[in-house]
Amino acid sequence: MLNPKIKDIEMREVILVLGACGQIGTELTQELREIYGHNNVVASDIREGNDEFINAGPFEILDATDRDSILEVIQKYNITQVYLMAAMLSATAEKLPQKAWELNMNSLLVILELAREKHIKQVYWPSSIAVFGATSPKVDTPQQTVMEPSTVYGISKVSGEHWCNYYHERFGVDVRSLRYPGIISWKTKPGGGTTDYAVDIYFKAIEEGKYECFLKEDTKLPMMYMNDAVKATIQLMQVDAEKINVRTSYNLAAMSFTPKEITEEIQKHIPDFTISYEPDFRQQIADSWPQIIDDNKAREDWNWKHKFDLASMTKEMLKNIQAKMMCL
Ligand code: SER
Repeated sequence: MLNPKIKDIEMREVILVLGACGQIGTELTQELREIYGHNNVVASDIREGNDEFINAGPFEILDATDRDSILEVIQKYNITQVYLMAAMLSATAEKLPQKAWELNMNSLLVILELAREKHIKQVYWPSSIAVFGATSPKVDTPQQTVMEPSTVYGISKVSGEHWCNYYHERFGVDVRSLRYPGIISWKTKPGGGTTDYAVDIYFKAIEEGKYECFLKEDTKLPMMYMNDAVKATIQLMQVDAEKINVRTSYNLAAMSFTPKEITEEIQKHIPDFTISYEPDFRQQIADSWPQIIDDNKAREDWNWKHKFDLASMTKEMLKNIQAKMMCL
């Protein structure tokens, strides 16, 4: 997937992925193993994932907030980089605000401290479009603008971004971050997010030919296919430090669409597919987020380019889900 010309120094990285069994963690770990070698990427999660994934390289059960156990694993494998992918997403976090804050914040502070103490050299931490709120511009949302999030998930991400910047400025920690839009994938489903409908809709289109959507038909949100998200993440981690001018988190974008537009795209392949709308509490979360993100800073600083749009992603999603079902 990536440019194979990776510098020697990067080949010497030994990587720990926390939250490796989650939606992004799964595919990120697989891609990192392809690039850096299976034994140089330690997957970890709070519980075991599927056998195929675990047997493909080292795996450790780890709680992302447990400093001592993480340090033990770092020392056991001589880890140089940590990708901290464990987090509670927006919809679940609204049900468990305290727990969300504890997981999303404490895990980051543990890793930033380990980096400050020089146990690791580099940290990746994902932020989100949820850092923006009702007072941010909804269209072409700039890199720097008003950020007054209304969700606990967004509050934890804004705070986390400032902690990343602080650790970089004050202690020289090499921490890098992206504000992901909704991420769409077929290998592992997301859980507890507001953008999850855009994954479920493909599965339901194939399994049942119909879908009940928890957002209104005209709710436009920024989205991205998983392949692009993984590509951006690894590219950001590989780029020379001088190219990185944003140490809070970079805006990142590929496409924006509404439930109605994704439905019409699916109907080009499955003409009988139908959708109904039953908005719930997630509508309010979606309404507080931007519709279209301006990611020019990422494009200028480290040459970010997305590949997939709604049409090409829809083809890939339907093809891969169908193939997956034939194997079951
Ligand atoms: N996909 C996330 C969510 O819906 C946003 O970052 O919570």
